[in-house]
Amino acid sequence: MYDHQIPLTDKDLDQSIQGQVFDDQKKGRRPNAKKYYIESYGCAMNFSDSEIVASILAGEGYHSTKEAKESDLILINTCSIREKAETTVRNRLKQFNKIKKQRPAMLIGILGCMAERLKAKLLDQEKLVDIVLGPDAYRDLPNLISTAEEGERGVNVLLSREETYADIAPLRFASNGLQAFISIMRGCDNMCSFCVVPFTRGRERSRDAFSIVAEAQELANQGYKEVTLLGQNVDSYSWKNPDTGENVSFAQLLVMVAKVDPDLRVRFSTSHPKDITDEVLYAIRDYENICKYIHLPVQSGNSRILKLMNRTYDRAWYKNKVDRIYEIIPDCAISSDMITGFCSETEEEHQDTLSIMEYSQYTMSYMFFYSERPGTLAARKYEDDIPLETKKRRLREVIDLQSQISLATNEKDVGKTFKVLIEGNSKKSDQEFKGRNSQFKMVIFPKQENYKPGDYVNVRIESATAGSLLGQIV
Ligand code: SAH
Ligand code: SF4
Ligand code: F3S
Repeated sequence: MYDHQIPLTDKDLDQSIQGQVFDDQKKGRRPNAKKYYIESYGCAMNFSDSEIVASILAGEGYHSTKEAKESDLILINTCSIREKAETTVRNRLKQFNKIKKQRPAMLIGILGCMAERLKAKLLDQEKLVDIVLGPDAYRDLPNLISTAEEGERGVNVLLSREETYADIAPLRFASNGLQAFISIMRGCDNMCSFCVVPFTRGRERSRDAFSIVAEAQELANQGYKEVTLLGQNVDSYSWKNPDTGENVSFAQLLVMVAKVDPDLRVRFSTSHPKDITDEVLYAIRDYENICKYIHLPVQSGNSRILKLMNRTYDRAWYKNKVDRIYEIIPDCAISSDMITGFCSETEEEHQDTLSIMEYSQYTMSYMFFYSERPGTLAARKYEDDIPLETKKRRLREVIDLQSQISLATNEKDVGKTFKVLIEGNSKKSDQEFKGRNSQFKMVIFPKQENYKPGDYVNVRIESATAGSLLGQIV
């Protein structure tokens, strides 16, 4: 896809920005400098990290290529969230090793969550890589390249309690020059029982608020129109100013970034139902450029399952949060993540997920069937006892219901006028533009002279599908 901007949540290879590659050859770097090829999988956090890695490599005089075949170094930034994500990466590594047979001096490195989870296994046992680098060790990449060039094991999977890469300016290779991610924190201290992220990304830490604001300012200066603040649980952002001793909360950070430039839209992902505060909701309400859109994953609509998942809220709490959002920000859109067929889930409990989707009126959702991950709380404590067909059938029901709700919420927008940031040509036609409204809905409309990507236009909606709104510039 990336129909959606890379949300924190859509970690899956099958749905995602897979194989996004970077080529800076046209920029006229030294012809004899070493070339690297990078491919990124998983969530927005990983794509943001690849921009850090690209920046580190550029500092070492490396330049990038879109052709794995002609590179000296292949890097693959990986995801472990579901089994399928790892299978895809393994297949990719096998393909890369075929290329390496022709170019024996070439190095293959694995980065990201799978590197952290499997550590040296892919190097020592499976012999698929030369370099293994966990998400907190990217500064060590130049050293590990030298180590591997000398034929030694290049492994660093140390997790850190401090690393935020705050001082490294990301090299925004995959960007359209309008929209960018800003990583505001790393790691996760929640222990959702199904989730591998706390193990692959380590402890939660928040980045210096001033470095975040400076990055947003720099992007605005360069003509960017939208930033997305990234963290696994942005509502627990908390940074203590060492000079004043004062604490900056997520709500305060949102306002600081919103004040950078009224023309710079601010988005964020992901919010956790247990942590999102009224202050955050007031900030969204009060600042026009903070988008009226909250990704608030529910995972399940059933309180017993939520307890087994260790989500620390129940059905009633979640519904209250939804009520509060619509009360404070009536035009807010909410989206979600759902997992079907979690350990011991009954048909009735699955029905609770369907009914909470109706209740919440999600504009869209990322939907998955449960995939047991080794080492997680659920893998250790609960039996993965729902048959695959049942998990998949429940997933189909969830997906079908979501398309109905998406269509219904979109149809309610017919007749309304939205401010849309033009992102580029629509997929179908170069006579049409696509862009998003504040609610993160995709809007398609015929081009008019004088307008170009990066402009804001008002679009009156004339019709709707489950995936987009169609209208005219007014
Ligand atoms: N930090 C975010 C999301 C992180 S993972 C949050 O707390 O919401 C993104 C999504 O992947 C999760 O919301 C969940 O729906 C899904 N997911 C995570 N682990 C999974 C597993 N073991 N099987 C299936 N889906 C999973
Ligand atoms: Fe995983 Fe839960 Fe942390 Fe999200 S909040 S990354 S689902 S442990
Ligand atoms: Fe993201 Fe996948 Fe890691 S979802 S944090 S890349 S396990």
